Amino acid sequence: MVNVRQYVFSLLASLLAPVNVADIEPTPSPKSVGIVGAGSAGLAVLKTLLDLPEDTRKGWDIILYEQRRQVGGIWLPDPNPARPPDLPETPLYPLLHTNTPVPTMTYPGFPFPPGTPMYPAHEYVESYHQDYAEHNKLVPYIRYNHTVLSSSWVGDSTMGHWQVVVQDHRGENLTKSFDHLVVANGHNHEPHIVTFPGQDDWLQNSPKGGPPREILHSIWYREPERYINRTVVVVGSGASGRDAASQVCMKARRTYHSVRGNDDPATGPVIIMPEISHFTANEVVFKDGTTISDADSIILGTGYDLRVPFLERGGELSVVPGAHSNDTYSQKLVTNLRYLFPLHEHIFSLSPSYPPNALAFIGLPILVSNCPSDFAQGIYAAHIIANGSLLPPRSDLLQLLANTEEDLRSKGYDPYNVGHRMVLKGSAFDYQDRLVDYLKEHGDLPDDGRKFVEGWRREASGYQYLKRGWKRVEELGTQQDWLKNVETEQDWALLMDRLNEWQGEWERRGGFIFPLDPIAY
Ligand SMILES: Cc1cc2nc3c(=O)[nH]c(=O)nc-3n(C[C@H](O)[C@H](O)[C@H](O)COP(=O)(O)OP(=O)(O)OC[C@H]3O[C@@H](n4cnc5c(N)ncnc54)[C@H](O)[C@@H]3O)c2cc1C
Ligand SMILES: *[C@@H]1O[C@H](CO)[C@@H](O)[C@H](O)[C@H]1NC(C)=O
Ligand SMILES: *[C@@H]1O[C@H](CO)[C@@H](O)[C@H](O)[C@H]1NC(C)=O
Ligand SMILES: *[C@@H]1O[C@H](CO)[C@@H](O)[C@H](O)[C@H]1NC(C)=O
Ligand SMILES: *[C@@H]1O[C@H](CO)[C@@H](O)[C@H](O)[C@H]1NC(C)=O
Ligand SMILES: *[C@@H]1O[C@H](CO)[C@@H](O)[C@H](O)[C@H]1NC(C)=O
Repeated sequence: MVNVRQYVFSLLASLLAPVNVADIEPTPSPKSVGIVGAGSAGLAVLKTLLDLPEDTRKGWDIILYEQRRQVGGIWLPDPNPARPPDLPETPLYPLLHTNTPVPTMTYPGFPFPPGTPMYPAHEYVESYHQDYAEHNKLVPYIRYNHTVLSSSWVGDSTMGHWQVVVQDHRGENLTKSFDHLVVANGHNHEPHIVTFPGQDDWLQNSPKGGPPREILHSIWYREPERYINRTVVVVGSGASGRDAASQVCMKARRTYHSVRGNDDPATGPVIIMPEISHFTANEVVFKDGTTISDADSIILGTGYDLRVPFLERGGELSVVPGAHSNDTYSQKLVTNLRYLFPLHEHIFSLSPSYPPNALAFIGLPILVSNCPSDFAQGIYAAHIIANGSLLPPRSDLLQLLANTEEDLRSKGYDPYNVGHRMVLKGSAFDYQDRLVDYLKEHGDLPDDGRKFVEGWRREASGYQYLKRGWKRVEELGTQQDWLKNVETEQDWALLMDRLNEWQGEWERRGGFIFPLDPIAY
């Protein structure tokens, strides 16, 4: 790319002698950055790009495309959810509450408003994202009702641009080019649908007089009332499966919860079952040989596939289900539906088709609190987009990635199955600190002597009594007493600490033994 400004400047400089040419700072050409998605991740990276030093980002063209009407991603309700096989815009259901303490779900320095419950209903998280976008003046950069249809790189490993096709709010296609593309499209949009032998036969044999049999993924789950007079099998013990089972069991005639191995089932009146083996015309058969014949509805809480449809369409990402080694990767990125590789630090694509800072992913890590993780990733991505020389050569980055994968293997994990799950204890926090420290070490961020991850966040991750404590507070109806005068981040941190202590002491005194809170997210 010809840097016109720099050229004009040096031309002027040569005319205005005597000027020492070495004194003239090279002005980097203004960059264009396209961001896809205005959920937690997209807002974080938009904010961190705008936080770059004024003279670094002067003249940059930054646009965030969001296909929906507002920010918030999965937390923004879908008033008319599509029926299968069409996908709803979000898996959000009316009874959704956070399953993690809300003070830990925050962008740094931006706590939830006073009075927010510790595990609030989804509306609070929706407003939080809107408040964040408005407070930080992000809205002018967002194009609502704009869907990115495809993106492909035009150029080579050293220079070029993204050609992005966007369907605008009037339904017309426009083509835009960007130097850098940031993907923040979320990973709870493509249901991972498992099929069992014999299920079609079972589906076609609905008993007369009863409801038609059905098998639905949890992305379509909305109201438990729908299951009145039905007998339900909920498959899976991730956050979605457990939540669906614990809600449905309060309405359904009977609820079975099919879980793998020693996974934690839902709380409530559920019958715990092993994994499903297959279906016959009238029965669900489980792997231990037991059968049930009263089921009429199956809810699949089987998780989500990691896909990026617009990169697949643009020819930049290959889908190779089950890919288990980096052999499958040649020139393109690969997703095996759980792991997208090869990426540097779960962020930058190491495909040799374009420079290593041309394509960034924000929000891939799982088993993390998203907003702080997205923010750390955003800082890293923004600075490296501004100055690609902060990264060592691609070959070094590939070696680093191979080392990280080897380290996971040595600890008994298969990196291609773990994917972006931060499975090692404390690793999500270490990761965030590492990203920010790297920039400090390279003099690209001032070193204020503090770590990115505040001490209280690490503390809070070990509060095993907190959730039951808040439940007891709700039962006692004393929420307002606890929440009184809680405003700053520090206040929220102290509240979590007090509540955890209070419940822990009560449980110890009563000699109660509860299972540890399963890690949810
Ligand atoms: C039911 C459910 C409950 C959850 N509960 C919790 C919880 O309690 N605590 C917790 O920490 N985490 C929870 N999570 C995890 C949750 O995914 C994160 O909290 C976080 O909000 C994800 O943000 P994101 O920005 O990565 O993705 P998303 O919120 O999915 O946002 C992605 C955005 O990108 C847009 N987009 C996608 N493709 C395109 C395109 N081609 N063009 C334009 N726009 C596009 C989408 O419309 C969307 O707005 C939950 C997830 C689910 C599914
Ligand atoms: C986006 O679409 C919604 C309808 O889904 C409409 O209400 C809203 O005004 C649109 N916003 C923009 C900016 O086009
Ligand atoms: C926009 O592009 C998509 C994908 O290339 C295509 O399917 C669609 O028909 C186009 N829409 C219009 C209005 O041109
Ligand atoms: C549930 O079954 C009972 C008894 O058969 C019936 O009276 C009731 O109307 C049913 N409720 C719904 C919502 O179908
Ligand atoms: C970009 O980063 C490199 C490596 O740290 C550094 O030497 C160079 O000065 C940086 N460039 C700018 C414009 O900051
Ligand atoms: C692929 O994985 C092997 C084994 O971990 C490693 O030695 C090699 O460097 C990796 N290659 C690339 C390109 O990442």
